[in-house]
Amino acid sequence: MTLLVLLGAPGAGKGTQAAVLRDRLGIPHIATGDLFRAAIREATPVGLEARTYMDAGQLVPDGVTIRMLEERLARPDAANGAILDGFPRTAVQAAALDSFLAGRGSQVDAALLIDVPPDALIERLSGRWICQSAGHPYHVSMKLPAVPGICDLDGSPLVQRADDQPQTIRARLVSQLDDLNAVVEHYRATGALRTVDGLRPIDAVSAGLLDVLEAGTAGAA
Ligand code: AP5
Repeated sequence: MTLLVLLGAPGAGKGTQAAVLRDRLGIPHIATGDLFRAAIREATPVGLEARTYMDAGQLVPDGVTIRMLEERLARPDAANGAILDGFPRTAVQAAALDSFLAGRGSQVDAALLIDVPPDALIERLSGRWICQSAGHPYHVSMKLPAVPGICDLDGSPLVQRADDQPQTIRARLVSQLDDLNAVVEHYRATGALRTVDGLRPIDAVSAGLLDVLEAGTAGAA
């Protein structure tokens, strides 16, 4: 089982890089943000609860988030591992993930931090468009689709996320960075943390992530 955690501030490129790692490693990409957005579209109780927090740029409470993630990880396609994108987001979630995996004789193999300074995050989020059906990310200047307004991968229309409005972007950055730092310290302490410079072109960041994975435990945090 290979369990990877992708860490980074909102807009650091977790979703973009998770797709690359998924294709390379053949394990599913599980994004809690995508799970919440699907729950909102389906108007489930989880979706109704999550929406209030997401619209305000705040984290959804740990209890509902941990339950949702554990249910997703228990599905058969994750038997050989997964790439977690957007989870854990708090120290409580990180501890819960450790316990869940320990119960299966497993652990987080690597926590990959995509490091991007705040100024660049605002530019990335305010220019992002995602596809309506699967959330594949594009950018108005940094990652254009072949046909304007249409996803290269599944042909669905591109839309802006509700939480990518300037006011919500600022709220996300202000309210979530302390929690991110706590999770980074958690993985520094376990020895799983690997940091990659995220302020480079998308392909260079992918190469950096694959390099640290190939280097295995020899890589320095
Ligand atoms: P979530 O969907 O996880 O959003 P996020 O963490 O804010 O991260 P993003 O998806 O915005 O960014 P990303 O890092 O994936 O960047 P991307 O690859 O798209 O969560 C949304 C909300 O759900 C949260 O605010 C919270 O309310 C809730 N939630 C989710 N998980 C939770 C949890 N565990 N606990 C509690 N609440 C939770 O890239 C961004 C843009 O930049 C794109 O346009 C892309 O094309 C471009 N780009 C990417 N890489 C590069 C590069 N190297 N150079 C130039 N442009 C780039």
